[in-house]
Amino acid sequence: MMITKIFSPAETSQAAEEIKLGELVAFPTETVYGLGADATNEQAVKRVYLAKGRPSDNPLIVTVSSPEMAADYIADYGEYGRELIRTFWPGPLTIVFKIKTGSLSSVVTGGLTTAAFRMPENETTRKMIAEAGVPIVGPSANSSGKPSPTTAQHVFHDMEGKIAGILDDGPTKVGVESTIIDLSTSKPAVLRPGGITPQQIEAVIGCSVDASQHKVGAKETPKAPGMKYKHYAPAAQVLIVAPNDWQQALDWAGKQDEKIGVMALTKTLNTSIPKNVVTYDMGGDLASATHRLFDGLRYFDNEQKVNWILACSFEEKGLGAAYMNRLKKSSGDSYFEPQA
Ligand code: TXA
Ligand code: MG
Repeated sequence: MMITKIFSPAETSQAAEEIKLGELVAFPTETVYGLGADATNEQAVKRVYLAKGRPSDNPLIVTVSSPEMAADYIADYGEYGRELIRTFWPGPLTIVFKIKTGSLSSVVTGGLTTAAFRMPENETTRKMIAEAGVPIVGPSANSSGKPSPTTAQHVFHDMEGKIAGILDDGPTKVGVESTIIDLSTSKPAVLRPGGITPQQIEAVIGCSVDASQHKVGAKETPKAPGMKYKHYAPAAQVLIVAPNDWQQALDWAGKQDEKIGVMALTKTLNTSIPKNVVTYDMGGDLASATHRLFDGLRYFDNEQKVNWILACSFEEKGLGAAYMNRLKKSSGDSYFEPQA
């Protein structure tokens, strides 16, 4: 088992050195922590799939330090690509483009003729990539199927002994992964909701985008290849609680013999809480709840070992669509059903 080193923000050049050697280094972004490896080194990329336990037909994001770095691989920006890059990079928008034939290994693209590109906001990470001099693949740095990591400690929990290092720049800001927009087809389509909303994108490109992937349900046809896999799932069963159902949900929880985790807004937790319930405070609003979602799921799973998790829901618009997308996946779309 290798020793997983922790690099401080001042140690980007040591982290870049590991990347150049073909080693794996986890890195911070404004969304979640990613698992980095030299995207031009097939052996290194293969080890990312192994470390995550990720199915190899699920392609990886290519993470760059500048738009110029991405330009080496992109064959066609389409009508809107340059404008979206100018407006949203660096930032939580991943863009799928047609790539130059043979410019990226099929290990990265899963054999597709397109690839997903992202330039993160985190300056420490961009410095590391620039110092490595190569783009890095960047799936979320969790074990496949588990909640994405929003702190270096989460990464350490899942990846200790499997990767060379973690570049630790504190907790991430947004808390859920980037929005993915596909520009390789005739109509721009949002494949995964994130911090940047379809409305923000439409305002820039002046035409409508297909945001139907927002409706994540059991019968959905996967468009982003990763959508067909189990995601964000803690060992406990998650139940989503609608805002008006909290009193009934807490009453129900109090009657169970098992240990129950409740992740809810501060105001919900200010009511009386049954003895068998452990709480996790999601803060005062949607932004703080999104920021804390994966940490809460991990807290109940790894530290509290609860049997059930009751989690607060939000309206599926704006950032709420991104939050609910993750929560629905982690719960398998299960809601707390109040008795009539
Ligand atoms: O915020 C993020 O995007 C984080 C941070 C670390 O940058 N990364 C991330 O990567 O979420 P990952 O691998 O967990 O999710 C990438 C998603 C997968 O669902 C994958 O199927 C999809 O992007 N994807 C990758 N290449 C694609 C392509 N060419 N076409 C469509 N979807 C693609
Ligand atoms: Mg992921």
